Amino acid sequence: MTAEAKARAACLIGWPAAHSRSPLIHHYWLRALGIEGGYSIEAVPPEGFAEFVLHLSTHGFVGANITIPHKERALALSTPDQRARAVGAANTLWYDGAELRSTNTDIEGFINNLDACAPGWDAATDALVLGAGGASRAVVFGLIERGIKRVHLANRTIERARALANLFGAKVDPVSWDAIADLLPQVGLLVNTTSLGMEGQPALDLDVGLLPSHAVVADLVYVPLQTPLLSAARARGLKTADGLGMLLHQAVRGFELWFGQRPEVTSDLRDLVEADLTKG
Ligand code: ATR
Repeated sequence: MTAEAKARAACLIGWPAAHSRSPLIHHYWLRALGIEGGYSIEAVPPEGFAEFVLHLSTHGFVGANITIPHKERALALSTPDQRARAVGAANTLWYDGAELRSTNTDIEGFINNLDACAPGWDAATDALVLGAGGASRAVVFGLIERGIKRVHLANRTIERARALANLFGAKVDPVSWDAIADLLPQVGLLVNTTSLGMEGQPALDLDVGLLPSHAVVADLVYVPLQTPLLSAARARGLKTADGLGMLLHQAVRGFELWFGQRPEVTSDLRDLVEADLTKG
């Protein structure tokens, strides 16, 4: 067997073919660590997904990232850990012996990025999370797991915030979108998980001046890198954590599971992905 044939490979499975920075990230780490391996994008339609995933190794892969629209099916077809179960979606698959296991790395991506950008952020007793979609579910779980006492959850459609609160219990306080301004003075952490501020979307209409001076502001949006929310927070001198940081940090665990070494999120890697993002 040639060295090439033995090289490990992972992939990103989505449909249609995802435009993703994951190959750039994983190739950077493979190179940096001198590991012979690969990472490709595999476009797999819903009707072929179960066969592909259940025979991932036959297709030549030691594991995979999963994206739209397959994350819920991936959970059902594998043995999920507590995090994947909590989020209700799996984004990372790997083999534990013959067993296909899954996790959701958005939680640690979010938390580890906060730890890197704003150490001490978890001194906040109250957090305010905007949005109640899949990304919010990962964020809320991560905050509760870390010990944040109260997570106020504001969503345009309050029923979705209530549904998430029912899932996670009394520490999550579902509030209406109109309640945001009243809550800002009491929160130590503000997180945007909505699509507001994303390229082509309206900006989030919110006055960061109402936040306490020790507050930390996180935005999951990374196109543009510097959202209007992050710009306003930085202009006020608040600590911030951006969406690109979360994207890089969420990729760490998959790489470690597939290739056996824990990679680092370096400023070189950030520059590389940032350049790719800004070239459009
Ligand atoms: P994801 O899985 O990435 O979190 P999602 O499930 O589509 O994506 O959720 C998008 C979030 O952005 C939702 O919280 C959505 O609010 P609704 O539940 O009311 O739809 C929020 N969102 C999108 N556009 C918005 C807008 N113009 N104003 C306020 N919230 C908005």
